[in-house]
Amino acid sequence: MIDLNINIDHIATLRNARGGFEPDPILGAIESINAGADGIVCHLREDRRHIRDEDVIKLRELDTRLDLEMAVSKDIIELAFKVKPELVTIVPEKREELTTEGGLLIAPRKEFLKDLKNKFHDKDILVSLFVEPDIDIIDQCLDIGIEMLEFHTGHYANEYPKNLEVNLAQIKKAIDYAKSNGLRVCAGHGLNYTNTTEIAAIKGIDELSIGHSIISKSIFVGISSAVKEMKGIIENAQK
Ligand code: PXP
Repeated sequence: MIDLNINIDHIATLRNARGGFEPDPILGAIESINAGADGIVCHLREDRRHIRDEDVIKLRELDTRLDLEMAVSKDIIELAFKVKPELVTIVPEKREELTTEGGLLIAPRKEFLKDLKNKFHDKDILVSLFVEPDIDIIDQCLDIGIEMLEFHTGHYANEYPKNLEVNLAQIKKAIDYAKSNGLRVCAGHGLNYTNTTEIAAIKGIDELSIGHSIISKSIFVGISSAVKEMKGIIENAQK
């Protein structure tokens, strides 16, 4: 079974729009887990535009697996060491972007990433790198001893249903290669209620990380129904 991890960033985006405390992303996480989600993801951005440090600390207190998406900034690394989520996903970050726009470039920062991965592993924190589904990039990740990757599905999602076969083939090839090298595999970005079936049908995916579409749907149907519907799509795709 593929695990579904819910990214709750946009509950915090809405909360921050008024500068108050509603809606509460922690409550969103609890409701998601109660509805059958397998874990929670949050992205602590350098500008703290949605999730804040205190949210991460509170999320860690919940009885659920936490994936902290993060850029490699000193203060965020320190917070991650302190909070100790089960998983950190290293993502590239540009201040002016609306959302993460592509996978990490590994080659120019190989030694730095290897050292960082070792420091996290020493603290029993698993490290995943958010990368493009590309064999050369997977090889670079293998060189630094990475045990988990998240493949960027943004390109697939943006073009969907155009170039479906080509984009799916690229993702499938990357997943096969990562699995044959013993990696744990996640996929995410831009997945929604119409484009997730094809991705969830790919053999070898361990986890999906989905946020914007589920939180958007939850405005109309509630977060519990939105999570259950996505769980159903993923389960049916694997039959
Ligand atoms: N995975 C990563 C690494 C991301 O940065 C994001 C967006 O925060 C997601 C998954 C989830 O993307 P979406 O919100 O489009 O579902």
